[in-house]
Amino acid sequence: MAAIEARGTAEPLVRVVGLTMAFGDEVVQRDLDFEIRRDEVLAIVGASGCGKSTLLRHLIGLQEPATGQVLYGGQDLNRADDEQLAALRRRFGVMFQAGALWSSMTVGENIMLPLRLFTRKPAAERARLARWKLALVGLEGAFELEPAELSGGMRKRAAIARALALDPELLYLDEPSSGLDPFSAARLDGLILNLRRNLGTTVVMVSHSMDSVFAVADRLLYLDHVEKTMTALDAPRVLAETGPERVRAFLHRRSQP
Ligand SMILES: Nc1ncnc2c1ncn2[C@@H]1O[C@H](COP(=O)(O)OP(=O)(O)O)[C@@H](O)[C@H]1O
Ligand SMILES: [Mg+2]
Repeated sequence: MAAIEARGTAEPLVRVVGLTMAFGDEVVQRDLDFEIRRDEVLAIVGASGCGKSTLLRHLIGLQEPATGQVLYGGQDLNRADDEQLAALRRRFGVMFQAGALWSSMTVGENIMLPLRLFTRKPAAERARLARWKLALVGLEGAFELEPAELSGGMRKRAAIARALALDPELLYLDEPSSGLDPFSAARLDGLILNLRRNLGTTVVMVSHSMDSVFAVADRLLYLDHVEKTMTALDAPRVLAETGPERVRAFLHRRSQP
């Protein structure tokens, strides 16, 4: 357990080493090598079906690598025992692509659920923390509402509040701005930057919105659907200028309707 707490800015939060992901014999992506740096916003980008959501599932330990490792502070996610895994999972929050809230609970109850499941905090404290997380995402008035009463953008922000319930140091977001109008999408970009600034949260975000990637990402990891491996990892602006041709073409779809 001692190796889990990686300190110092030079030490990456996560190290992905020689990762090959497959469903049976079907390889999705191979030989992925990269780090998630403390305090960065890392965007995972590539054509539909290239393996972005699959990579997120590997990063959170929901799917086992065909080969290779996902290391948190030196600890292999797939070799951790149950207790170690539980401790590791407390360190990250996740918003899946569907981003669904439980429709049978109020928004507040949704945010309080992880606190009820994974902490011993009393009810009043759970409510206080949930209201604070909702305020962080600009939804202070939504505590008593049903998810169905929220707009699409508000629902995404509430799902992010739920992912933040346990104060993760790392937040995984799968297509947070999909299905949102440009205004709501831009507001979500602002929220991501604020989380990093105010809470020091490291963010790994799958995105198909190049506007969003250019607005918030420090680095962009490109998963190529033809070569089935990563072909670029750098600042979006650098890749737009000097990246491989398919990456440049992808990035230049920016701001098209
Ligand atoms: N449960 C599954 N079983 C088999 N193949 C899958 C499964 N989930 C995804 N795939 C395949 O893996 C590839 C990558 O999928 P995915 O990670 O969802 O892509 P992306 O998120 O980049 O659009 C696709 O070809 C998809 O059909
Ligand atoms: Mg996906």
